[in-house]
Amino acid sequence: MPDQHTNVIRHAGSIAASFLESLDNRPVYPNPDTIAAMDALDVELPSGPTNPVGVLDAMHAHCSPATVASAGGRYFGFVIGGAVPASAGAAMLASAWDQNTGMAICTPVGAKLEEIAGKWLLDILRLDPSSGVGFVTGATVANFTALCAARHRLLANQGWNVEEDGLFGAPEIRVIVGDQVHASVKKALSMSGFGRARIEQVEADNQGRIIPSKLPKLDGRTLLCLQAGEVNSGAYDPFTEIIADAKSQGAWVHIDGAFGLWARACREFDDLTAGIELADSCAADAHKWLNVPYDSGLVICKDRDAIINAMSIRAPYLHDTLASEPCWFTPELSRRARGTEVYAALRSLGRSGVSDMISRCCKHARTFAAGLSDAGFEIMNDVVLNQVLVRFGDDDETRAAIDLIQKDGTCWAGGTTWQGKHAMRISVSSWATTDTDVDMSLKAMIRCGKQAARAS
Ligand SMILES: Cc1ncc(COP(=O)(O)O)c(C=O)c1O
Repeated sequence: MPDQHTNVIRHAGSIAASFLESLDNRPVYPNPDTIAAMDALDVELPSGPTNPVGVLDAMHAHCSPATVASAGGRYFGFVIGGAVPASAGAAMLASAWDQNTGMAICTPVGAKLEEIAGKWLLDILRLDPSSGVGFVTGATVANFTALCAARHRLLANQGWNVEEDGLFGAPEIRVIVGDQVHASVKKALSMSGFGRARIEQVEADNQGRIIPSKLPKLDGRTLLCLQAGEVNSGAYDPFTEIIADAKSQGAWVHIDGAFGLWARACREFDDLTAGIELADSCAADAHKWLNVPYDSGLVICKDRDAIINAMSIRAPYLHDTLASEPCWFTPELSRRARGTEVYAALRSLGRSGVSDMISRCCKHARTFAAGLSDAGFEIMNDVVLNQVLVRFGDDDETRAAIDLIQKDGTCWAGGTTWQGKHAMRISVSSWATTDTDVDMSLKAMIRCGKQAARAS
């Protein structure tokens, strides 16, 4: 191995560490000047080679300050976790290994780590240990993959081979979702040929949970999509009231648990998560609440044959060496060894570490809700998980407060519309968030909220 290669990797490790050290003492969102400074990267395409260390130095100088500090403890936007140390380190290792994890013959290491990580995931999430697990890019693709498995099984049960014959002329499948279904499930339904306009949406309550009595009669031609963790409120559909019944009517039940599935790892939330184990398939994001680096989503399918039929790929030059190859569970053939970071996160945190991380984030969310409510601001959701929806007065005052909070730089949270009103979403999803981070961020939010009210 040329010295240059190892030197570049060592150098990358050292600048990555200095980037992480800078996180506590900089604005959480980059200011316009640091964003504009990235223009310095837009040089003429070099006509020949450039020293790789110099390339990394230029990227560190101009990009590191312009990053969004979501790897730190005071980023509360969307549902974006950080990366626990072992998983961030494993990602660097995985890049050096550069293993193509479509097939075990290309990488016994990638396949082995995913086999173990998959087994541990089913254990920690308390799901059927014989389920198929696919390591995909994110929950959108996990939802898509699961819906393809559902499509396979529901149509095969009616004598139709969708993988061979396609959807033209196939028996109809009815698709039922809640009113607050995540946009990614709709996208996945459109990509898998179910069509957005054919979806039936069932009324949800004021937390975004499907109202079971509003569900139509289901049957063996029905695909029912539920969710664990509504993206705004964090609410869970009432699984125990719905799933056993839906299964007895022959429906396929899928759960989008992009972040909410992780609460299965923490017994504190058993009331919310009970019944998930009855579903046919689930989607989750390791890059959200397991806190591994992007991109890392998981599809879990109880019916292994269904996902294998929907996803497997065969060709004479692709040699199967395992009873089931990684690429039989994902849309991709070639891909990076995503299970590496999942393995490292699970091994370093252990059962109690994952549970504590979930519990801690939810405790922080409750602290935000209590502090903001005590300061006179309206909390719009039942804070059952890690999500808080807060209003700083009317829509205009709320927009103004969000703008001030984002510019202040202490922390970052985004806006949304909930029940027809504008609100700020606080999502506590990072392992790195401490009590001090919450205290500093709460003070900044209250200060900006009061300033917005005074200005109106
Ligand atoms: C509930 C829910 N489902 C699905 C997704 C899509 O996940 P990804 O962005 O990883 O594809 C998200 C992302 O925010 C989500 O919150």
